[in-house]
Amino acid sequence: MSETTAPYSSGPGGAASGAPGRRVRIHHLREMKERGERWAMLTAYEQYAAQTFDEAGIPVLLVGDSASNNVYGNETSLPVTVDELVPLVRAVTRSVKRALVVADLPFGSYQASAEQAFHTAVRFMKEANAHAVKLEGGEEMLPQVELLTRSGLPVMAHIGFTPQSEHNLGGYRVQGRGETAQRLVSAAKALEAAGAFALVMEMVPGDVAAEVTKTLSIPTIGIGAGVHCDAQVLVWQDMAGLRTGRMPRFVKRYADVHGVLRGAAEDFAADVAAGTFPGDEHTF
Ligand code: KIV
Repeated sequence: MSETTAPYSSGPGGAASGAPGRRVRIHHLREMKERGERWAMLTAYEQYAAQTFDEAGIPVLLVGDSASNNVYGNETSLPVTVDELVPLVRAVTRSVKRALVVADLPFGSYQASAEQAFHTAVRFMKEANAHAVKLEGGEEMLPQVELLTRSGLPVMAHIGFTPQSEHNLGGYRVQGRGETAQRLVSAAKALEAAGAFALVMEMVPGDVAAEVTKTLSIPTIGIGAGVHCDAQVLVWQDMAGLRTGRMPRFVKRYADVHGVLRGAAEDFAADVAAGTFPGDEHTF
């Protein structure tokens, strides 16, 4: 397989066939866009989920700051720190063979200056072996994206609804509607020119996301941004149904992991109460 072809053999929906392949690199993602191949990104925060998604052929895993409200029990992504995310990124990079692992820079760790972003990103690369970093924001983030890219650190950008700016944006709202659409398209172009290798668009009208996707040469990754993005991302606990309760409209639940896990825990507890576990076969 040449360095310029996809790093794995795709099956339906872009899932890998399981054949051993090369590590996914940022140029593979751009080449997939050129070939019109759509792909999926998932979050991952620990060993077994990371291994499973890697085996499933998911080419990019994001250790999101969504760990804040999916691992650490916070209500939003705002409280999570670099010190809390570094061990999760390390666990994920140690657990995958092929996936490109992106570390999300948490709130407060990169907004102050390009230098602050550089020092935070270096921690993720050195201490956690991250392959790339992600940061939220539009044109105000161009100095950060330029410095990181120039320093050899691949950057995934994130525009539209950016959860770290929830309070500034007035809550969870679709961004880029009406007059603000053109601002979003300009920000996307500027982030590409600054060196971003991919762009997440969150809660953006489908037609605006389609225009951005057509305009850029780097892949766009949608979450609540319609079907015309080059890739789609979901938080894995939402995608697999581990999280319950009210979900954003953009979530599709592909399994009931909550139900399976709860059922297993109930069966285990019932066996223990009844004295039917452990059996002879589990006993030395
Ligand atoms: O932290 C996260 O999970 C994210 C994705 C939803 C894009 O930023």
